[in-house]
Amino acid sequence: MSASPSGRFAGKVVMIVGAARGVGLATAQAFAREGASLSLADIDPAVEQVAGQLGDVDGERVAARRVDVTDAAQCQALAAATVERFGRIDVLAVVSGVLQKTARISDLPIEEFDRVLAVNTKGPLLMAQAVLPQMRQQGGGRIVNVASWFAYNGHAYFGGYCASKFALRAITQAIAEEEAENGITANCVSPGNVDTEMHRRALREEAESRGITAEEMKEIEWAKIPLGHACPPEDIADAIVFLGSDQSRYMTGASLDVNGGVLLR
Ligand SMILES: NC(=O)c1ccc[n+]([C@@H]2O[C@H](COP(=O)([O-])OP(=O)(O)OC[C@H]3O[C@@H](n4cnc5c(N)ncnc54)[C@H](O)[C@@H]3O)[C@@H](O)[C@H]2O)c1
Repeated sequence: MSASPSGRFAGKVVMIVGAARGVGLATAQAFAREGASLSLADIDPAVEQVAGQLGDVDGERVAARRVDVTDAAQCQALAAATVERFGRIDVLAVVSGVLQKTARISDLPIEEFDRVLAVNTKGPLLMAQAVLPQMRQQGGGRIVNVASWFAYNGHAYFGGYCASKFALRAITQAIAEEEAENGITANCVSPGNVDTEMHRRALREEAESRGITAEEMKEIEWAKIPLGHACPPEDIADAIVFLGSDQSRYMTGASLDVNGGVLLR
């Protein structure tokens, strides 16, 4: 028999999309430490191993499901399965995301634009549609989407990605205003450079196109960050947990910058 959970999130149900690795994995680990019941999802089947590892701590409290966040039926099924298993959904954190292949707008294949918008913008919208009826019925909830420091300005060669995260902030703000009367808050965390596979791949590709090493590319990019380095995924997870907690109760429609000051330069 598992010990009864303790912590800030004891008795709370947290759904995390994009939990197989990177920021989503760190977020699952952080909420698990705080005693939450977890419904984890990702398109990558590795999410099942993550649940297995976290479930070792307390086998009763973690469920996993393979979900493509761009598919409305799969998002609905995830929400339904979560309610069936745990009875409610207190927090939805949509961490899943993809980076675009670098290209000028003039050369950006439209299929690539569609792919990035589908995962980064349509996905969180579909997940909100899937959980909002349950959150309204239970009298509240917290939605946390992960945007980016690229959600404030267009950046050369990343026009599609920037558009997807700009739009995600707009959708999050609309949810915040619409659902305030239902006790539901909606906010974004906007990370700077996070030392995950996404960041490392971007450095490798940029290094290759410039004919330098990935290590040299890292030095160039990290020198642009006042705090001097990309953060570990745990630093973003902490902000997601905060926005999922009652300590953020007066925040809605906000974008919380966790970026080492990169926007200051
Ligand atoms: N790493 C950075 O430097 C950085 C900077 C700013 C914002 N972000 C954002 O933070 C979030 C997490 O990024 P990360 O660095 O952990 O990336 P990551 O690539 O390590 O992890 C992304 C996760 O999303 C999942 N995913 C991708 N497509 C999916 C789909 N269709 N359905 C369900 N799951 C899907 C992947 O399988 C993976 O587990 C993303 O939204 C990203 O855009 C990252």
